[in-house]
Amino acid sequence: MINRLLVAATAVAACGCFVLIGQQQAEPPAVYTLDQAAAGKTAYESSCGKCHLEGLTGRRGDPGEVPPVSSLPENMQKTLADAGGKTPPLIGSAFMAKWKTTQDLSLRIKSAAGAFPPENSNEETYLKVTAYILQSSGARSGTQALTADTAVPIQSLDMNHSAQNR
Ligand code: HEC
Repeated sequence: MINRLLVAATAVAACGCFVLIGQQQAEPPAVYTLDQAAAGKTAYESSCGKCHLEGLTGRRGDPGEVPPVSSLPENMQKTLADAGGKTPPLIGSAFMAKWKTTQDLSLRIKSAAGAFPPENSNEETYLKVTAYILQSSGARSGTQALTADTAVPIQSLDMNHSAQNR
């Protein structure tokens, strides 16, 4: 009897072990490359970052925020004035929860990039900025580049929580 129990317990333990290994190997999808994210950071800083700030935290309208609103081009100052000096964060779980798929996000970034084009923009620039935004919230990079057709559920990217709450 004791032997049979032991065998059963061992079988359960072994089985649990397989489940654990299975979970560790199932990595979340990787939807952009590191090169895209790096180019996206440069593009972001030349435009978006002036309003959404370095670190993608958004403006709260505080006096010490960098860059100062008065240093920005007139069209940006006007947009900021109309928004009460505030801009939303482009990082973190609350921001990411607004988009069902990576394509929903990239289309929104496309329209922002149309309004305030980064330096040296082309038709790929918004995808690079999207890659940078995904990276900043903790999504994995890989060998597959983000494209206009990439429509992976944002939830499945399983973003790293420490990065999300920066
Ligand atoms: C002149 C300041 C300014 C610049 C430059 C700017 N934005 Fe914005 N952005 C805003 C303001 C203000 C809002 C909030 C009002 C709105 O949703 O249009 C906003 C909203 C957004 C939103 C929606 C956020 C949400 O939570 O729904 C996204 C995404 C966004 N911007 C991305 C970008 C990207 C990417 C760039 C660069 C290509 C950029 N923005 C450049 C001012 C700016």
